[in-house]
Formats: sequence, structure tokens, C-alpha cells
Amino acid sequence: MNNKNFARQLKKISNNIFEHGSPWTESQFESQLMQANTEIIYHFEDDEIIGYIICQRVLDEAELLLIGVIPGYKHRGIATQLLKDMCQRLKQKKVLHLFLEVRVKNIEAISFYDKHGFKELGIRKNYYKHPNDDAKIMQLEI
Ligand SMILES: CC(C)(COP(=O)(O)OP(=O)(O)OC[C@H]1O[C@@H](n2cnc3c(N)ncnc32)[C@H](O)[C@@H]1OP(=O)(O)O)[C@@H](O)C(=O)NCCC(=O)NCCS
Repeated sequence: MNNKNFARQLKKISNNIFEHGSPWTESQFESQLMQANTEIIYHFEDDEIIGYIICQRVLDEAELLLIGVIPGYKHRGIATQLLKDMCQRLKQKKVLHLFLEVRVKNIEAISFYDKHGFKELGIRKNYYKHPNDDAKIMQLEI
């Protein structure tokens, strides 16, 4: 599959994964995939993408941009494996700090990040639109 096909698949499954629909358009996925400092890991089952994690590296830091697993496949450890594999890859590339922003109302994701050792750094007021929400900023030392 080329970047365009991956982008199309990612957009399609993200419509179902995220409570408020896909956070990115197909072309946003495609341009992110084309950047050299983007790291992405997929989880496939029967040749279909079931889950994915996307990070962006800058020197010894990285931002976790998106992580998601299709409903129906959640709570099977898929996201845990994706995060572990991503941390291993980032470590090999000399990344030390992993940051992320998450909607404060996204209890599912916050509980996942807490479980994996992310610490809260602060709250960014009105960070999200459609719908409006504050962001919790979190960090993991890897
Ligand atoms: C967050 C998410 C990626 C976790 O994926 P997953 O494959 O189900 O996670 P795992 O099975 O590896 O880990 C499960 C852990 O996640 C957390 N979790 C998952 N679903 C949860 C829920 N409904 N309520 C509370 N905690 C939940 C818990 O910490 C859980 O640990 P536990 O089983 O000991 O309670 C998944 O719920 C998802 O895709 N959410 C929608 C997309 C999203 O909001 N992504 C984050 C912002 S980019």
C-alpha cells in the first residue's frame, strides 16, 4: 500500500474510532505520513488495519499525535502493544521524552495513559474545537 491508500484507510477507520469522528482529513493523514520524522505503527488483522499509533520526532522529543483501536477490538491489549513497540522504536532513535495532548473528557484514553506511566504536566484551556474542550498535557520518560 502507498501513502495515499494508507491515508484513505486511516481516515475511514478513524471515523469509527474517535468519539467525535476522525480528527484528521485524508489529506492531513497523507501529508503526515510523508514527513520523514513521522513514526507510525499499524496493527493488522486479516490484512485490515485494526489499530495504529502515530508520533512525530523532533531531536530527543516526540509527540504522540494519535492512537486508536477499532471498537470491537478494544481491551485486548492492542494499544498497549502499539505503545510498547513505538517506545522501543523511539528509544532506538534517541528520543527521551514523549508528549501528548488529550481531551480532558476522554476518560478511556487518560486511563490508558495513566496506566502506562504518563504524568500530567498541565491543562491547556479551550484547546479543542468541535466540541470545545480543554486539553490535558502529559509526558512519558522513555
Ligand atoms: C485508548 C485506546 C487507544 C485504548 O486501546 P485498547 O486497545 O483498548 O487498550 P488496551 O487493551 O491496550 O489497554 C486497556 C487499558 O486502556 C484503558 N481503557 C481502555 N478502555 C477503557 C474504558 N472504556 N474505560 C476506562 N479505561 C479504559 C484502561 O487503562 C485499560 O486497562 P485495564 O484493562 O487494566 O482497565 C482506545 O480506547 C481507543 O482507540 N480510544 C479512542 C481513540 C482515542 O481516544 N485515542 C486517544 C486520543 S489520540
